[in-house]
Amino acid sequence: MSSPSRILVTGGAGFIGSHLVEYLLERQHEVYIIDDLSTGSVDNIRHLLSDSRLHFYVGSILDQGMLGKIMPQIELVYHLAAAVGVKYVIQNPLKSLETNILGTHNILQLANKLHKPTVFIASSSEVYGKNDTVPLSEEAPRILGSSTLARWGYSSSKGVDELFSLAYYREKKLPVVIGRFFNTCGKRQSGAYGMVLPRFVKQALLGQSITIFGDGKQTRCFSYVGDIVSAIYRLVEVPQARGNVFNIGNNEEITIEELARLVKEITGSASDIVYIPYEKAYEKGFEDMKRRVPDLTKIKQTIDYTITKDCRAIIQEVIDYFTE
Ligand SMILES: NC(=O)c1ccc[n+]([C@@H]2O[C@H](COP(=O)([O-])OP(=O)(O)OC[C@H]3O[C@@H](n4cnc5c(N)ncnc54)[C@H](O)[C@@H]3O)[C@@H](O)[C@H]2O)c1
Repeated sequence: MSSPSRILVTGGAGFIGSHLVEYLLERQHEVYIIDDLSTGSVDNIRHLLSDSRLHFYVGSILDQGMLGKIMPQIELVYHLAAAVGVKYVIQNPLKSLETNILGTHNILQLANKLHKPTVFIASSSEVYGKNDTVPLSEEAPRILGSSTLARWGYSSSKGVDELFSLAYYREKKLPVVIGRFFNTCGKRQSGAYGMVLPRFVKQALLGQSITIFGDGKQTRCFSYVGDIVSAIYRLVEVPQARGNVFNIGNNEEITIEELARLVKEITGSASDIVYIPYEKAYEKGFEDMKRRVPDLTKIKQTIDYTITKDCRAIIQEVIDYFTE
């Protein structure tokens, strides 16, 4: 970004949000955070609170009054606040839908009513649902299971967010950019809401059993939070990015079983590796996708997209964080 701007980061006290806020403050921007601290924490941004360019509001994106006070002065919105994590969404289905659908709509509606600042929307690879085509391009169909399974609430809500955002772009010319994150990891990510890597690292360091949900043959691609933050910083600057959806992640594929072994090896842990059926870990009838690999062609054509950390390096960073 050429000159310092006033930027709102919803969910700025969360994992990715806190890294983004840090990155923006380093580049002299004036940063506003709205976070209800439901899964985020003041600890994630404590080291930044003394910066006079940071304005931290504890509150919800469902509070239109609060949004109405902050948003008129904002030039760019990174909308990251959401109910996140499969486990959290299954345990809090109603709150999750309200936050992810109504909260996102509040942001879009207000941005449109005001001076139409650029709005970046954090979406997820979960929108692809059970589509395990390799690699997944942005146009790949979404294949979802039954709505009787709470698990599909997250995917559905992010899908609705994307549709809302694109409708605002097409009908109202609101400049929106949508990023679908694929398993983003790094320091400050909590393992409490179903995120696999911090959970494995914590278990390994404590000498507890490393618990794999399902048969462990499912694959994922883990990306480094620093790479994601620097990508979305540059992406919102590109005019052709507006009204577009981008996969943002890494395409290095690893099975969850291999991930568990790698965590065990790097931590030097004596933990055993055990398997827990999905139904016991989540809910009856739980469905998972076998593979989820992003096609990164589009983002690479749009910005100079670089991946600085592979899976091993990411694991090491998470270990260092928990060890500290
Ligand atoms: N981490 C990943 O691997 C991943 C993958 C795909 C998509 N995403 C998306 O990235 C964004 C950030 O996720 P994260 O991993 O940092 O999770 P996170 O839980 O650490 O961050 C979400 C933040 O939003 C806040 N929040 C929740 N409801 C709110 C509300 N009603 N009002 C205000 N704040 C609220 C939480 O307190 C938290 O600080 C989310 O939109 C998520 O869906 C993350």
